[in-house]
Parts: sequence; C-alpha cells; structure tokens
Amino acid sequence: MNGCQMRYLAFLSDEPAGLADFYRRHFELVELGRSNAGDVSLSDGFYNLTFLRRREALNELHPENGLHHVGLQVDSMERALAGYRRTTYGEVVAEEPGGVHFGERRFFDPEGMPVSVSEGSFGAPAARKVRPARIQHVAFNSLLPQRILHFYSTVFGFREVTNSVNFRGRGRLNRFAGDGVTNLAIHPYFNDTEGHEARFGVNHFGFLVSDMDRRLDALAKEIHVAKRLANRPFAEYRLFDPEGNKFDLSQAKGWEVDIDVWEVDGERRHGRFETGEPGTRAEMGGAA
Ligand SMILES: [Fe+2]
Repeated sequence: MNGCQMRYLAFLSDEPAGLADFYRRHFELVELGRSNAGDVSLSDGFYNLTFLRRREALNELHPENGLHHVGLQVDSMERALAGYRRTTYGEVVAEEPGGVHFGERRFFDPEGMPVSVSEGSFGAPAARKVRPARIQHVAFNSLLPQRILHFYSTVFGFREVTNSVNFRGRGRLNRFAGDGVTNLAIHPYFNDTEGHEARFGVNHFGFLVSDMDRRLDALAKEIHVAKRLANRPFAEYRLFDPEGNKFDLSQAKGWEVDIDVWEVDGERRHGRFETGEPGTRAEMGGAA
C-alpha cells in the first residue's frame, strides 16, 4: 500500500496555449513551464494541469482531444509497481519522459485507461497551498466502477468514502474514494440518471471555490454559465471550457476527500454528511 496522491491532470489539445490561458486567468493558476512542442503546465498550488499538444509522438492509445488522464505521486515506485503487477494490465509499464509535463511511468487501469505515475510532485509544490480556487475532485466514467475503485485502493491506497457506502446502500454503481485532497468519483458510463453526460475515462474535474459569484461573472463573459439541476449532488455548477471539457464549481456542497473529511466553503470539515439523491448535503442524523 502506498501513501499516494492524485496531483496531475493531462488534456490533449490542438491549441494548448489558448486552453491553458483560459484556466490560468479564471483560476489564478501559475505556470510551471512550457515545451518547444507546445505543451503548457500550470499549477493550482498542488495539482499539475498539463495541456499537451496533440501529436503522434505522444503515442497515445486514445489520441482524441480533451481531458485525457490523471497522474499520481507515489512515495515508492517500487511498491507502486508491486501493487500494479497484480492488476489486469500489470505487465504493461511504459516509460514517460518525466519533467514538468509528464510522469515517470505509465500504468493502465483495468479498463485500459492510462495513469501517469511519478515519485516526484510533477513539478508542483510539495505541500497543498490554501487558495480561493483549488482542484478537489476528479470524475471518471467506467464500465465497472467497483473494479476501478479496487484498482485505486489497492495500488494507490485510496480510501472508499462514506458517501460511496451510501450509494452502495441504495443499490447504485457509483463509487467515491479519497486520498485526503481529491474526491475521486467513478460513475458508470451506462447510466440513465438525469443530467448524466457520458464520456469514458476522465469525465470531468472540479474546483472548490470560495468566491463563486465573482468567478461566475468573469466566466460568463467567455462561456455559457447555467446552474445545474438542483437534484445533482456535490457541485453547484457544471461548466464547459472553450474546447468542451467539463468542469464543476462547488462552494457550499463540497466534496468528501477522505472518510468523513469534507472540503466545503473554502475549508476542511470533519463529520458525516449525506449527499441526497435528490437533495443536497445534510448532516446525517441532524437537521437538514
Ligand atoms: Fe462532479
């Protein structure tokens, strides 16, 4: 078992500089570096957000533009490899170039989706900096969420959070896990829940913000801003960047980033909450 954290998110784009600029301006991201090939990497103070210029040399199994894959920092590559070798594609380990735009190794989850792995912090600051906008949520679509949860738990030490148990109790396939910073949501690709927008692999990610109205005003000048259906748990807003990638904005609903640990309204709270379906976050056993 590793003490690992998700801290890298890669996009493919034909115009990575323009897309990176959108996120940099709206979420006060700092630039970690850019390459001669056109790749741009930014940070929110913990995550590395990398916008890779789509090209054959990347040799990707899935070369479509858009949100592409996540990356994890592991405390020991040797231990991560030992755990990985027991999984479906555990014999497949590709080298990555490292540096600020890539991880060191490439693993594949049980559905063949790529995962970058690095012993380093992907060039981002080692410790989380508290700031008014920060990535606290990544959501996948998968065929079998339970298998993906098992992969992230056994190889990278993610903890299944209380809300995931709630979903199990309602007979739902959705699973949720945390690493202390990120709430990882794993939703079934085939899913007839109202408002579900299928996209296999990395479906979307989310920023926790503490100044929602100001941000929405600025975003509305560039992209369409509409409130989500009131019955969707967690994020209040689902937005699309200029290339159609989906991201959530949440302030009051927040995300469970570890067992009974919530990031909400710009701060960390400990307690047991329920995200209703339909409904909103309510303290379990307490007042709504
Ligand atoms: Fe989400």
